Amino acid sequence: MTTGTDPLDVARIRKDFPILDLEVDGRPIVYLDSANSTQKPRVVIDSMTRFMETAYAPINRSAYKLAAEATEAYEGARTKAQRFINAPHAHELIFTKNATEGLNLVAYSWGRSQLATGDVVVLTQMEHHANVVPWHILAAERGIELRWVPLTDDGQLDLTNLDRLLDGAKAFAFTAMSNVLGTINPVRRLSDAAHAAGALAIVDACQFVPHNPTDVQAMGADFLAFSSHKLCGPTGLGVLWGREELLDAMPPFLGGGNMIADVRQDGFTPAALPDKFEAGTPPITEAIGFGAALDYLSELGMANIRRHEMDIAGYAIGALEDRYGDDITIHGPHNVEVRGATLSFAFRDLHPHDVSQVLDQANVYVRAGHHCAKPLMRVLGVGATCRASFYLYNDRPDADALVDALAAANDIFGP
Ligand SMILES: Cc1ncc(COP(=O)(O)O)c(C=O)c1O
Repeated sequence: MTTGTDPLDVARIRKDFPILDLEVDGRPIVYLDSANSTQKPRVVIDSMTRFMETAYAPINRSAYKLAAEATEAYEGARTKAQRFINAPHAHELIFTKNATEGLNLVAYSWGRSQLATGDVVVLTQMEHHANVVPWHILAAERGIELRWVPLTDDGQLDLTNLDRLLDGAKAFAFTAMSNVLGTINPVRRLSDAAHAAGALAIVDACQFVPHNPTDVQAMGADFLAFSSHKLCGPTGLGVLWGREELLDAMPPFLGGGNMIADVRQDGFTPAALPDKFEAGTPPITEAIGFGAALDYLSELGMANIRRHEMDIAGYAIGALEDRYGDDITIHGPHNVEVRGATLSFAFRDLHPHDVSQVLDQANVYVRAGHHCAKPLMRVLGVGATCRASFYLYNDRPDADALVDALAAANDIFGP
């Protein structure tokens, strides 16, 4: 049953996730760490078990029937992912290890073949390290210049000088949704600005794809990366989507089996897409689970998931601020139209690790730390934050549990 403004029947959804029945120290858990990694529904777990029990075989190499069927199932996951992000072609989707590998692939393969000393790549101050360090490595190696889009006081991108920052740039690599602030960026506008300056739009959609309807064509993206484990799928698999002509022109990233059309003593000829970028034995079982996760989310409807998260974000922000007033600082925009349900906060002057330990005593699981976004921590003037991140299986009582559990921090650390 859905309630009020929430289009999801969370009570029913929770039954799909076996781990949510878990009790620790005799009490249920409140899982608020989905921006880190999500829990898995029974359909995903079962699809992988069933595949391994009844249909497992290596793909692409063997001619027997089981191998052909396994190859078909693996490629079926690629087609599901293509539809999920509305990509023009399935062969434009490269299965990687995770979003990190996808972004490294772009920096390594496209960056090394296209960028020379003095070239400019523009990033934003809210990037995850996965979209920073590969560019730093390239900068150290090639002498490229990195420029940074600053933030407004409420944690959105300050686009006042965007055109000047993009002037002469070859790439604009930005997150579609911040893993710390929850901010959802205006991707189409950013892509258009990149293209107007002659730069590519490289989108880190690791936090965006699990929580919003995604359409790479409407976004105007050139590359887009995300991870399976953040959208109810297994670990070990991510997607890099890129426009066909860009991927076709890029040199391979990793060399080995599967990625070649021919190998000779004097060299090799790479395979066509997507194999060119899928060296070695791929995560076959994980692709099956990933496909099941995409089916599961599609059935619930990504627009419904987005509306649910707007509802829970608004409720949680209101409840935390009503109860704790000036004692709590929630970073990022408060307007749910431009944010997701990932809430980073400071509680009084307590260290986020202390706060998360207090919450752990109530089985409320949040993440404390720099969230792999140290440049952003420096902008915020903090070393770390507490982050509560909600997903489709979280409901208002979970937000209430967070609010109540924080009271113990007051009791333990005093007024
Ligand atoms: C915005 C963003 N980009 C990239 C990543 C890297 O994802 P993965 O660790 O799955 O490669 C994360 C993970 O937290 C993220 O939040």
